Amino acid sequence: MNDKTRRLRSERWFASDDIRGFAHRQRMQQQGLAREEFMGRPVIGILNTWSDLSPCHAHLRDRAQAVKRGVLQAGGYPLELPAMSLGEVMVKPTTMLYRNFLAMEAEELIRSLPLDGVVLMGGCDKTTPGLVMGATSMDVPALFCPAGPMLNDRYKGQAAGAGTHTKKYWEQYTVGAIGQAEWISLEARMTRSPGTCNTMGTASTMTSLVEAMGLALPGSSSIPAVDSGHTRMAWACGQRIVEMVREDLRVSRILTRDAFLNGVATWMALGGSTNAAVHLPAMAVRAGIALGLDDFDAMARRVPVIANLLPSGKYLMEDFYYAGGLPALLQEIRPHLKLDALTCTGASLGANLEGHECTDGDVIRPLGKPVVSAPADCAEAAMALAVLRGNLCPDGAVIKPSAASPRLLRHTGPALVFDSNVEMLAAVNDPDLDVDENTVLVLRNGGPVGGPGMPEWGNLPIPKKLLKQGVRDMLRLSDARMSGTHYGTCVLHISPESAVGGPLALVRTGDLIRLDIAARSLDLLVPEQELEERRKHWSPPESPYQRGYVRIYQREVTQAHEGCDFVTLTGPDSTPEPPIF
Ligand code: FES
Ligand code: MG
Repeated sequence: MNDKTRRLRSERWFASDDIRGFAHRQRMQQQGLAREEFMGRPVIGILNTWSDLSPCHAHLRDRAQAVKRGVLQAGGYPLELPAMSLGEVMVKPTTMLYRNFLAMEAEELIRSLPLDGVVLMGGCDKTTPGLVMGATSMDVPALFCPAGPMLNDRYKGQAAGAGTHTKKYWEQYTVGAIGQAEWISLEARMTRSPGTCNTMGTASTMTSLVEAMGLALPGSSSIPAVDSGHTRMAWACGQRIVEMVREDLRVSRILTRDAFLNGVATWMALGGSTNAAVHLPAMAVRAGIALGLDDFDAMARRVPVIANLLPSGKYLMEDFYYAGGLPALLQEIRPHLKLDALTCTGASLGANLEGHECTDGDVIRPLGKPVVSAPADCAEAAMALAVLRGNLCPDGAVIKPSAASPRLLRHTGPALVFDSNVEMLAAVNDPDLDVDENTVLVLRNGGPVGGPGMPEWGNLPIPKKLLKQGVRDMLRLSDARMSGTHYGTCVLHISPESAVGGPLALVRTGDLIRLDIAARSLDLLVPEQELEERRKHWSPPESPYQRGYVRIYQREVTQAHEGCDFVTLTGPDSTPEPPIF
């Protein structure tokens, strides 16, 4: 079928011979358009998350022009629609609080306007899942146009990556290893151009996963943001989405369980961000696909980390691009992929990979030569993810062993508990803090309801007095998340969270906590009877948010292992198309 024979969704607005149709056509012509420019053509919405406070998306305003060119040349009509921007670093308290807001906005923009297909322009962490979740619920033809990573930086002869090295230099500054002048001069480093973080943080994890799942053009997620190839890719998105509308290639035909499993395999091979453990279930629920923590753990055991990228490895995204980018990595993990999965090109994933190969075997390793080699007694140390369960996390928790310290992967130590991030920050540098390298730092009230929005507090800072002794890692636990650019032995996403009465709420300073990654267990070594007693005296923390969006968020949000979507937004059931009158 093509747009000549199949009725386009936009024709509900533009084709009717009545007063409404007249008004819709009239208002388009008010902008100087002729009827022929938009009538009977695929109308493409370009959902653009550009803003002046989203440095990672600074180039997307220009890039939308290339998408428009592609749409026009393919016979469609493009319309650019601004959508909530969610620049990761600037948005407080955390962009995660607004991922569902963006997902709702994307869904409702598509529903309420005369659009036949959409190009989703995003990349900074939460924008990718947010846009995809919205388009999935609307189930129109949709193509993701990734913002692309920023350029590499080097400092004193070494690769310097956004996020990862900020953290490293901060620790050095804290202990006086670098002075204030150098610290200030570093502000202009590591972020050399527009584009998303150049480490394998959440941004590149999610854009790569979306490409592997078939919703972005082959190779598109690896192209540096300011490369001229990025502009050509944006143009190609414009061309392709028009064809996708003609082919009626909707999200539901692409986002199958096989597609999600391809995303999971890719995540593990990339050593990608733990944040994917929240976003993938959220995206899957929208698509009506069963996918959960156990799928992730199973895949992590099979697929080793082969992308030698910070924070698990040593290179940056520009190197990854030169080595062949994501298609080259997917070639290496072919045995773990569902190659028949349909993609946005109209061809299968396997067909898309033909002709792509790795050109640098140190950046993208062969399967037999993973980036992280595990000690003989702990195969888990090399894995991108482990899912834990136990009396502290009955619904699960995650850790990224490949970014952790092998010595801590089996560890028992006394808890030092903080009830809030503010309390932790006020105490952590106190020289009298009762802490040593075996202490387990515990932060609660950092979950979806408690944070609220599950902020990236899970990488608790090492107490200054221990940093001075040379300690660089400790076991840390929380119901919060961690930036994908960070590293350390951090157990995250403890579910259920403390603010809704999860067992984390019952931990007291001095209690022994035992982590055993090989057994996938995390336990509080306190007798059940004692925990019951403590539970009787527990009451939920009072929320200061009694109105507004945050109140809605706290009422609606699901737990981490379920994806933190809103209850009302989950499920594949469709909302009716709006009446035109
Ligand atoms: Fe935007 Fe890292 S801050 S991708
Ligand atoms: Mg991040």
